[in-house]
Amino acid sequence: MASRNLVSIADLTNGEIEEIFELADAAEKLRSEKVGSGKIMATLFYEPSTRTRLSFESSMQRLGGTVISCSDMQASSAAKGESVADTAKVVSSYADVLVVRHYWDGAVQAMAEHADVQVINAGDGGHEHPTQTLCDLYTLRKEKGALKGLNVVICGDLKNGRTIHSLVYALARFGANVVTLAAAGMELPQYVLERLEREFQYTLAPVAGGDLSAVVTESDALYLTPKQPHQLALFTQVDNTIQSHLTSRVSGLRYDAFYMTRKQKERMKGVAAGGSYPTIGSKFLNERRFKDTVVMHPLPRVDELSPEVDKDRRGIYFQQAAYGVPIRMALLHFLFERQRQPKPLKSVKGAAIFENPHAVGPHCPNAKCITVNEPGSTRLRFELLAEGPAGALILRCFYCDHRFKVQLVGHKTSKRYCPYDITLDETVRQWLNSGELAIFDSIKQAEELGYEPHKSGPQRAIMNDREIQMAVRQMSDQIIHDCDDPDRLLVLGIRTNGSLIGQRIAAQLQQMQQRKFEVGELEIFGAGEDLRRIRPADAELGPIQLRDRSIILVDDVIHTGRTVKTALSMIFRSARPRSVRLAVLIDRGHREMPLKPNYVGKHIPSADHERVRVQLGAAEPNSRDSVVIYSIVSPNEKQ
Ligand code: CP
Repeated sequence: MASRNLVSIADLTNGEIEEIFELADAAEKLRSEKVGSGKIMATLFYEPSTRTRLSFESSMQRLGGTVISCSDMQASSAAKGESVADTAKVVSSYADVLVVRHYWDGAVQAMAEHADVQVINAGDGGHEHPTQTLCDLYTLRKEKGALKGLNVVICGDLKNGRTIHSLVYALARFGANVVTLAAAGMELPQYVLERLEREFQYTLAPVAGGDLSAVVTESDALYLTPKQPHQLALFTQVDNTIQSHLTSRVSGLRYDAFYMTRKQKERMKGVAAGGSYPTIGSKFLNERRFKDTVVMHPLPRVDELSPEVDKDRRGIYFQQAAYGVPIRMALLHFLFERQRQPKPLKSVKGAAIFENPHAVGPHCPNAKCITVNEPGSTRLRFELLAEGPAGALILRCFYCDHRFKVQLVGHKTSKRYCPYDITLDETVRQWLNSGELAIFDSIKQAEELGYEPHKSGPQRAIMNDREIQMAVRQMSDQIIHDCDDPDRLLVLGIRTNGSLIGQRIAAQLQQMQQRKFEVGELEIFGAGEDLRRIRPADAELGPIQLRDRSIILVDDVIHTGRTVKTALSMIFRSARPRSVRLAVLIDRGHREMPLKPNYVGKHIPSADHERVRVQLGAAEPNSRDSVVIYSIVSPNEKQ
């Protein structure tokens, strides 16, 4: 069994990356010593490539090894339906190392689990591209002498660009600062930001308005920096004093590198693929502030980076591509040397591994994940991360890294299930340690496996349908009273109940003002789109724009304030709105954060152990709107 693969940039320590750089500096020596003599490399590229494939093949030949390849995977048995698991097993008999590019997120991890030889990720879907990151870091270090403290702007499609994801993790590890300058609707995904925050304590601050817009339009810049307080998230109304204080902190920043990326059209469909996109050209070259800012690009470029920059000393992307050979020679040698070293467990620090005790269980919600598209090549395995956004319990897909919230937990012996919330944290940990923990995506799934619901204590009705309707009307009245520019108003509900109430508020506003108001929903922790339109007819309007908007953020209940904090943080990661005001149907008190809702349907002080359930007809058919309060019988009790 192979011992050492490179699937994620997390598979290498900083020390090992430095070691690879030293080997790359001595690439000519590796070449003359023929350190790869007798080795065979198989390149399996399910997606097109010029640089990665040819530089790997060139590297192997320069090391004295040989290469076998399927010139086109569509001409391989993959076209007949052969799984990645079988392909990895079979080709392991023909080669000593597999270099794989695949269109599904996590496919290379799946192949590494089935291969008997070492496996290198040459790009898996929109997930990671670790060897590109080695080239990027090597180029940066050569140009700037060190990585720590550099200010690197990453620009373009930060959502689908796999090179970006590996790069930001690595920059964070080496102590660089990252300024994100995303195309509209292509911001860094929530799972990447969550990891940056959890593992590297990287948080966000805004860059001074206009600081980068001289060279790139259509984007708001945000600054990812280690160990800064999470300031913006604590304000529901961003006033000008706070805004200017924060922006002044990072104004006049020195930019060391500008990393441009192309729009990953192959991973998009519809409107997103055709929308506007930032470009970089002669304006950049003329700006004195950027006189020492190098321009990088993983290539290929399309039209986001003007050929004018090619002639400038700061345009170093062809050199970056050329470093692909010494870096990949160094990497191959490094991995061959470690063939028999035990593989370090690729896991988030301190995270427990969860495998469902039943054949069915939670599924990764990322539609582009290998576990969804070819489950037979994978094992349903997740890391369990406590203390997620809003106090959620999070599962991290072992293959694609997407994270999602646990909805229902079950106890295997008592065969009972209940919705997860933070009060069950300790109990769930005990069940996990004793192998009794089951997790379900839906009640249907739990009940099909013979689980019954845990009984809850007596219920007390707090609001009926008429009172809820009145509360929505009263909040809408206040919103319109405070609104100085209806054209900027955006009602943004937190999915699911907050979104439903948000839609009702938008409908009420429409009735009152005889005009349409824009409405959207925010997914606090899911895969795919974090921010989306709700009305199908609005799809043609393209992604929701948050910049300079007056946002009404809506949720059903506010308790600790964590959900709202996360939602605010997501909003400010995307853009800088003019203001954000908070509307909640129920305010329970007991806030952990200094948050005060601007519009409240009803204040209901309640104890921590009590639960408030908002039931809305649209979410639960055949039921009337209601709000009830109840306590829960301990899930440990066998009933
Ligand atoms: N940068 C990069 O991965 O290029 P290719 O797609 O040409 O391999």
